[in-house]
Amino acid sequence: MKKTISQAAKHNEKTVTIGAWLANKRSSGKIAFLQLRDGTGFMQGVVVKSEVSEETFNLAKNLTQETSIYVTGKIVEDTRSTFGYEMQVSQIEVIHEATDYPITPKEHGTEFLMDHRHLWLRSKKQHAVMKIRNEIIRSTYQFFNENDFIKIDPPILTGSSAEGTTELFHTKYFDEEAYLSQSGQLYMEAAAMAFGKVFSFGPTFRAEKSKTRRHLIEFWMIEPEMAFVDHEESLQIQENYVSYVVQSVLNNCKLELEILERDTSKLEQIKAPFPRISYDDAITLLKEKGFDDIEWGEDFGAPHETAIAESYDKPVFITNYPAEIKAFYMKPDPNRSDVVLCADLIAPEGYGEIIGGSQRIDDLELMKERYEQHGLNGPAYKWYLELRQYGSVPHSGFGLGLERTVAWLSGVDHVRETIPFPRLLNRLYP
Ligand code: 4AD
Ligand code: MG
Repeated sequence: MKKTISQAAKHNEKTVTIGAWLANKRSSGKIAFLQLRDGTGFMQGVVVKSEVSEETFNLAKNLTQETSIYVTGKIVEDTRSTFGYEMQVSQIEVIHEATDYPITPKEHGTEFLMDHRHLWLRSKKQHAVMKIRNEIIRSTYQFFNENDFIKIDPPILTGSSAEGTTELFHTKYFDEEAYLSQSGQLYMEAAAMAFGKVFSFGPTFRAEKSKTRRHLIEFWMIEPEMAFVDHEESLQIQENYVSYVVQSVLNNCKLELEILERDTSKLEQIKAPFPRISYDDAITLLKEKGFDDIEWGEDFGAPHETAIAESYDKPVFITNYPAEIKAFYMKPDPNRSDVVLCADLIAPEGYGEIIGGSQRIDDLELMKERYEQHGLNGPAYKWYLELRQYGSVPHSGFGLGLERTVAWLSGVDHVRETIPFPRLLNRLYP
């Protein structure tokens, strides 16, 4: 079995063969430094002219970027590199020679890199971001499994909208009209009535004409839904979950955070509980901060969220928004029917809303009323009302946007770098 760079520590002082690509190279007359990558990591290979055959040294010196090779050598500790190991190369076998690799070590423009996303993914920084994405996914499964949730997969093709009709992708379902899912929530509510505590993780689609650093057309969402859990309890689960994910990334992605030059001192403070501010108080705060024309009843945009988040060094929950600007399924505050039992969680450092969640309406009559107000009386909703007809219980849930969370923890400023193949307003390629 061939070895991998990730196993270097295990093979310290042993001679191994690795399948790799040449990411970069420096050489002089006597020595060549090969930057090797094999997908599991990056490691330096050192080829010393006096210690290898002339043929091997010449081969090493002339290797072109992204040529694939089998490289054999002894793994040794290298305290100067953050990785900690390097290979003293003794032999190289070329598998496939790459010529004129388009992404060179020099600077390239964003559009060029996005057009070459299929290759750009190989670079060290993109590799680090995807490893952090993977750790968020891994720790998400671990957190919910440890807390007695089960994973349920809602459908992607749906007969109705979950969040609002303006952002739907339409498609044909034989002779019927169907939509790509904007959120699995309505199905997760059904699942919560069957399994108690559930979570989903899957792609969601928004036909939004937004061209911001926080919006993707296709993004991945983690959607927990919990029976017998009220709004306040849901907020506690959210802050525990987010803290758990942040601490997992800090513990398990040290090298990646270093490659990305992420200021980890800001992430170390991310521990539950998180501060909360009501929508009402957020309006007052914004006016104090010079947003003179914001009025009660208006939704917050990115600049508002950033201004609110600046007052805290942890993510902040903005709670109890006006009912009119939130989804039809949110439960009104029993003390004040003009606001709903909901919260958006705003990440620090300007990364914006990472979670939207709420307690759901559990009363059949009120839900019917909301349906009529929103003109949602199609047959697709019959089943959703039935959840309130047969043993309805208080329940809450939320959705965490994976890519915005990756952006925040990695410290990259645009979500296009947080998903392998981003779907953006003007991009369906590669
Ligand atoms: O606030 P949203 O729209 O909430 C829902 O869809 C609920 N049904 C979730 C639930 O309660 N089960 O979306 C939830 C999160 C946002 O906070 C944001 O992080 C992310 O999904 N999100 C996006 N991420 C990238 N691009 C977009 N266009 C996004 N829209 C929402
Ligand atoms: Mg939202």
